[in-house]
Amino acid sequence: MTQNPHPLGQSIIDRAEALARFSDMEGGLTCAFLTPAHRSAQALLAQWMEEAGMQVRIDAIGNVIGRYAADAGADARVLMTGSHFDTVRNGGRYDGRLGILLPIAVVGALNASGIRLPYHLEIVGFAEEEGLRFKTSFLASSVLAGRFDAALLARTDADGVTLAEALAASGLPGHGELAALQAAAVDPATLLGFVEVHIEQGPVLLNKDLPLGVVTQIAGSSRFQVRIEGQASHAGTTPMGMRRDAAAGTAEMILLVESRCSAVPALVGTVGQLLVPDGSSNVIPAACTFSMDIRAGEDDIREAAIADIVAGIQQIAARRGLSAQVDRIKPVFNAPCARWLMDQFSAVLRKRGLAAFELPSGAGHDAMMMQRITDVAMLFVRCGNGGISHNPLETITAEDAQLAAEVFVDFLRHFQPEG
Ligand code: GLV
Ligand code: MN
Ligand code: MN
Repeated sequence: MTQNPHPLGQSIIDRAEALARFSDMEGGLTCAFLTPAHRSAQALLAQWMEEAGMQVRIDAIGNVIGRYAADAGADARVLMTGSHFDTVRNGGRYDGRLGILLPIAVVGALNASGIRLPYHLEIVGFAEEEGLRFKTSFLASSVLAGRFDAALLARTDADGVTLAEALAASGLPGHGELAALQAAAVDPATLLGFVEVHIEQGPVLLNKDLPLGVVTQIAGSSRFQVRIEGQASHAGTTPMGMRRDAAAGTAEMILLVESRCSAVPALVGTVGQLLVPDGSSNVIPAACTFSMDIRAGEDDIREAAIADIVAGIQQIAARRGLSAQVDRIKPVFNAPCARWLMDQFSAVLRKRGLAAFELPSGAGHDAMMMQRITDVAMLFVRCGNGGISHNPLETITAEDAQLAAEVFVDFLRHFQPEG
């Protein structure tokens, strides 16, 4: 019988497939915060962590945290790793999940060989990063980082259920009480740092023919919900010049986002949700709502674009006799990775004869929130299929997963605290 040449890599891929069977939809992977599929994914991750030799706890927001305890007498501080297990609608199997499954596989291998680390390693399966259910992202990491915004408890999902109600019904410890969410924060003084493994979600490594990369910084992002209001009237009788069409105005606003963000490299803007509430084919739209996501590697560039776009939206609305309400969801600022941690990943890559290629992240990650309380670094794994992500086509190879796992083992075994 031939041995699998990529045992760790293959096990990661098999587990990503097993986890993807829990979905809120038929025929694809959607795993929104605190749905039955999400709770099943959470339970399976906890089981895998225990089987790998970790002590597992679930916190007040639903994070699954496994600890691979250090030898007695070793550094009592914690190196944290992890990523999220919620997904976007009809998303990929590796976004977030790779950063949980890979460290679990690595700990399982270390444990099987009787190797302990000279510090506590904790793997966090973050319960919410994507913002799908409550239209606000980083819920889980904001709790762990002690940055939870109490106002979010009143936020509703599409069915009108508040975050507080969803947490109270969940059976999670603390039942959604603010005090419990606050108490779930980690003490930054206990942390050695936070490192996150993530699929790249873009084509850079693929085009460079490189399996792995070291992230330099994570681009800041701002999300908005916009509501445009005009006037409903008859589609057959209202002359074109007399209309206050909320959807036509919105179309112009979307093109403004596109043209303003196209003007600057590394600035990106997206309208990913667009709705004509209660629209009819023979009625001029009275209202239109849309989401807006604007990102850049530099906060100043992003803020300048936002100021122009918001002013432009108001001008378009005024010219067309519409009203515009632009609600900003808390921005997440640009997060630089720590050079001392990046260097330790690069040293492992070079030792294995691999390029220590550095690249910025355009996508958001749990590491951004963790960077508020500790130093962070990220290891990117090549994304197949042209680099497509937030899409069921998102993929990695067993070979790359194996290599990433081996690099991560080396990183953990040679890890030196700062200073
Ligand atoms: C998370 O995936 C994000 O970058 O939106
Ligand atoms: Mn994502
Ligand atoms: Mn992700």
